Amino acid sequence: MKYPEIGSEFWEYDSNGIVADHIPEWLKWGKESRFLLSGRTAIDHIIKDVRTYSDPKTVYLPSYCCQTMIRPFEMNGLIVSFYDVYIDNKGGISFKADLDFSPDILVSIDYFGYRTNDNQKLIRHFKEKGSIIIEDCTHSLFCYKPFDSLSDYAFAGFRKWMAIFDGAIVTCINNSFNIPDCTLEHESYLNA
Ligand SMILES: Cc1ncc(COP(=O)(O)O)c(C=O)c1O
Repeated sequence: MKYPEIGSEFWEYDSNGIVADHIPEWLKWGKESRFLLSGRTAIDHIIKDVRTYSDPKTVYLPSYCCQTMIRPFEMNGLIVSFYDVYIDNKGGISFKADLDFSPDILVSIDYFGYRTNDNQKLIRHFKEKGSIIIEDCTHSLFCYKPFDSLSDYAFAGFRKWMAIFDGAIVTCINNSFNIPDCTLEHESYLNA
């Protein structure tokens, strides 16, 4: 029998080495979800999954975003453009995107956990145009409905919520991932 790596057995295995399901219901996202190192690795994972069936060249990101979110797209050779995020005259968050643009990938964020009509419209509009929709749910992680089922992928980094160094969830919302989960194990040690 193959034993799990020491120190992480409680998450996925019971005492008999049988795969157990200890993932809380609220973290069971989409058709398939995985836990990764960070929001950045989640973005990288999504791009690699997309590349198994498509060849994206452009990504449309909200202008109010952290530089760390842009890096994984750049490192994968994607051309990054931004749509405007601004505070409207009612104090709400609004978006101004070029609706004629046809990005291969659109990234959407429900800022501070609020889904606005603007956000909903943006997702629908670009989905209809054939863009792959990625929702960055770092802000909406604890919301009742963190992402739209119309979207293709969603992820959330954990470290903005609590004093931890890293961790993220990523989901392929309506399908399974095409690429394998990246659980690197020290094979020779485990088999010794
Ligand atoms: C909204 C948002 N998404 C994603 C990230 C990246 O997450 P991580 O730091 O886990 O790579 C950040 C980090 O600043 C962020 O603010």
